[in-house]
Amino acid sequence: MVLSTGSNKIKTAVFISGAGSNLKSLIKFSKLKKSPIIIKMIISNNFKAKGLQYAKIYKIKKKVFDFKNALSEKKIIHELKKDNIDLICLAGFMKILSKSFIKNFKGKILNIHPSLLPKYKGLNTHEKAIKNKDKYSGCTVHFVNSKLDSGKIINQKKVKINKLDTPKTLAKRILIQEHKLYPSAIMKIFSL
Ligand code: GAR
Repeated sequence: MVLSTGSNKIKTAVFISGAGSNLKSLIKFSKLKKSPIIIKMIISNNFKAKGLQYAKIYKIKKKVFDFKNALSEKKIIHELKKDNIDLICLAGFMKILSKSFIKNFKGKILNIHPSLLPKYKGLNTHEKAIKNKDKYSGCTVHFVNSKLDSGKIINQKKVKINKLDTPKTLAKRILIQEHKLYPSAIMKIFSL
């Protein structure tokens, strides 16, 4: 992938909608010497996203947009370009980005998804895996293209489904793996 790094670390924006535990793990990772990224901006579609607290804690710029129309996306693109953002990490971001937004950051948007893609794109992945009596579920980090949860896979982690698992207990175990998988995906793409 072609990226202009500017300073020596890749300026990154993380998009969130909720709790932000993946955001927190990415922030912690970004502070390691070996990390190729620096997180410059946190963006959310949700004023009430709990994860926005990390902007304050870690002194990172935050912006909230409703993502409802082309104008709002235009504003976001402007913000991102103004700060020379060269990588976007979707981390529990529950909005679908428009084709034109994705085109503006072609090859520079990553997403983490709580299933072993291509299985279970979209929502309610844990319910689906349990209902289908799968032995394993897991998580995937992939590049974002214009089709939902369909871009090139970077890495995946399998998690065993236990007999007594509920969507909630499974989600919790997978989330722990997500926190390791996202940093390792970033290490992988930038050490190529
Ligand atoms: C994570 O499990 C993430 O994989 C999932 O939302 C959760 C966010 O948790 N993302 C999606 O379902 C995207 N389609 P977090 O806010 O604590 O990082």
